[in-house]
Amino acid sequence: MGARELGLPERVGPVTGMPRQVTIWEVGPRDGLQNEATTVPVEVKLEFLDRLAAAGLTTLEATSFVHPKWVPQLADAEELLERLRRVAGVRYPVLVPNERGLDRALAAGVRHIAVFGSATQSFAERNLNRGFDEQFAMFEPVVSRARSEGVDVRGYLSMCFGDPWEGVVDPAQVVRAGRNLLDLGCTQLSLGDTIGVATPAGVERLVTAFTSAGIDVAGLAVHFHDTYGQALANTCAALRLGVSTVDSSAGGLGGCPYAESATGNLATEDLVWMLDGLGIDHGVDLDALVATSTWLAGRLGRPSPSRVVRALGG
Ligand code: HMG
Ligand code: MG
Repeated sequence: MGARELGLPERVGPVTGMPRQVTIWEVGPRDGLQNEATTVPVEVKLEFLDRLAAAGLTTLEATSFVHPKWVPQLADAEELLERLRRVAGVRYPVLVPNERGLDRALAAGVRHIAVFGSATQSFAERNLNRGFDEQFAMFEPVVSRARSEGVDVRGYLSMCFGDPWEGVVDPAQVVRAGRNLLDLGCTQLSLGDTIGVATPAGVERLVTAFTSAGIDVAGLAVHFHDTYGQALANTCAALRLGVSTVDSSAGGLGGCPYAESATGNLATEDLVWMLDGLGIDHGVDLDALVATSTWLAGRLGRPSPSRVVRALGG
């Protein structure tokens, strides 16, 4: 008999000090598919989004309105949103770097966007073709226009723990960059470990640096890539500090085309397995999600890197 039929994992929590409920911010259709060597057909992307919503995920980061030459995998953003079957109660945020991207997103009927900044100069240059300060100048009109139209804006911050060109990143610099995004009007800050080098002690140090600077933990999310196998441990450290929004991608898809050595995101299935054991509510049907990632792996022609998908997917 399989582990699920036997009632595993055992729900041992709730654990004192951890949130009772977590919002999973599913980034597979964006962070996952932006990094695939081949462009996935729009029909497959649409079915992927449908299946994720049917599995109970309520935040689906759908695509990006970036320059199509920079990320050709997501060049079909307009067509995708035109054909998307929006499910009631599900939000479909998209990445927007500048006003041109905002114009495109608003024309497509988007209600939730995310700007994406860098905690370091090197990655701001490589990912956005802007310097550290220039990136905020680029975001300023995007956030103010979006907010005045009633559109919600998340702020991503990349390279929060380490940078492939600059090495260790000073938490004080990350807090400064995060404060800039919040001051512009972002309603949530997602702390990205773009190249997956963080460990739980570093997570504790960074989240504490934010809260010590007076930034409410309720406005923080975490975004871990799993390059060194630390993503789940890092998430657990963040949960212990009260973080209750966690980014992950179905099947552990993912990466970043402009960050050397960035591999997949924390797999949503691995996250769900852990949350189940901790007695934390998340609203996701694990079996439906595993079936979705197994299906997508077949379309991509390679197995999912998620341990839970491999264990349950057959
Ligand atoms: P640029 O070349 O400096 O752009 O790129 P520009 O402002 O100089 O404009 C040049 C031309 O591009 C103009 O056209 C613009 O209209 C056009 P022209 O007048 O020459 O004909 N253009 C656009 N066209 C379509 N959509 C747009 C757009 N913007 C300008 N939005 C830019 C600057 C920001 C556009 C570029 O650097 C870019 O697209 N970067 C995106 C890179 C990216 O998507 N990276 C992956 C996402 S971030 C990530 O994965 C990390 C994350 O997961 C968190 C983590 O893990 O840490 C979020
Ligand atoms: Mg990422």
